[in-house]
Amino acid sequence: MSALLRIEDLSVHFPIRKGLLQRQVAEVRAVEQVTLSLNRGEAFGLVGESGCGKTTLARTVLRLVDPTSGEIWFDGKNVSGLKGKSLAPYRKQVAAIFQDPFSSLNPRMTAGKILSEVLYVHRYEGSIPGRVAELLSLCGLAPRFADLYPHEMSGGQRQRVGIARALALDPELIVCDEAVSALDVSIQAQIINLLEELRAKFGLTYLFIGHDLSVVRHLCDRLAVMYLGRIVETGTSEELFSSPRHPYTKALIDAVPAPDPDDDNTNKHGALAGEIPSPLNPPPGCVFHTRCPVAMDHCKSTVPPLSQLGGHHAAACFAVEPSQDAQR
Ligand SMILES: Nc1ncnc2c1ncn2[C@@H]1O[C@H](COP(=O)(O)OP(=O)(O)O)[C@@H](O)[C@H]1O
Ligand code: SF4
Ligand SMILES: [Mg+2]
Repeated sequence: MSALLRIEDLSVHFPIRKGLLQRQVAEVRAVEQVTLSLNRGEAFGLVGESGCGKTTLARTVLRLVDPTSGEIWFDGKNVSGLKGKSLAPYRKQVAAIFQDPFSSLNPRMTAGKILSEVLYVHRYEGSIPGRVAELLSLCGLAPRFADLYPHEMSGGQRQRVGIARALALDPELIVCDEAVSALDVSIQAQIINLLEELRAKFGLTYLFIGHDLSVVRHLCDRLAVMYLGRIVETGTSEELFSSPRHPYTKALIDAVPAPDPDDDNTNKHGALAGEIPSPLNPPPGCVFHTRCPVAMDHCKSTVPPLSQLGGHHAAACFAVEPSQDAQR
């Protein structure tokens, strides 16, 4: 399988400016030295607590935010420096679905108008009404939805319109940022099934972002766990769930409620103490050392590299021995 998206050593820092002269007084380190690669046709999950940099990473991939350093490669082309008109082809190939379709769909437009507008702006060459009907049907919406406004629909139906809009230009990659997080659990499952169906039908690639590990695990082949702007562990869903190696991943998995209430597996690895530090002033060394139950002295001064553990598995932690996985 070839890589469709490669993120290389990407950092995104937001300057904080103050005063009349707008002098930079600090910076938010939202994304720090992230390297990731998504294969064509796979669903790749990105998980981590709120504030760890997931949306910033998504917006940078969508080229809505400029990288501070590092590169983004799409289909063999470096897209990190593209500006203005040269971004247009990329904008057709990469689409997005956001958490709250209410705020991302224009409340004064019907679903039909919302979808036609995307097609019109990007000079769709076929029949626009025909394509709108096709998109609604692909997303499980009856033709009458073309005449409904967002406020006349349920949350799940609105998200289906959001998905139809993302599909409109026949993209290769869809960035789903907390796409099901605001929905009821039963509706979440329907939307996940729809995304899965569409991926199989069109060979789509997903960057699927969420804070709920159990949802992300459901859809994704591989996952990356993010903490304070950095990737701390990556692997297949199976590798991460059956043998999590980074103390933070272990804590995240412990926080997932057990499906069977009698089989209480919570706190197997020890609870996570303390607050997530501010990305304005991230801890030196391993960013997790302030909350890590097994931190050692040198964790406070040295950044652990993301080391390969065998298979697709990698973790950034001095306490992880590579041999354990490699021998499996
Ligand atoms: N435009 C911005 N300017 C300054 N700080 C920002 C901006 N966007 C995000 N941040 C900060 O970057 C950090 C990561 O935010 P975000 O990417 O939204 O995380 P997540 O999606 O994981 O919750 C947060 O501390 C957030 O306050
Ligand atoms: S590197 Fe040290 S502080 Fe960081 S997760 Fe591993 S043991 Fe904990
Ligand atoms: Mg977010």
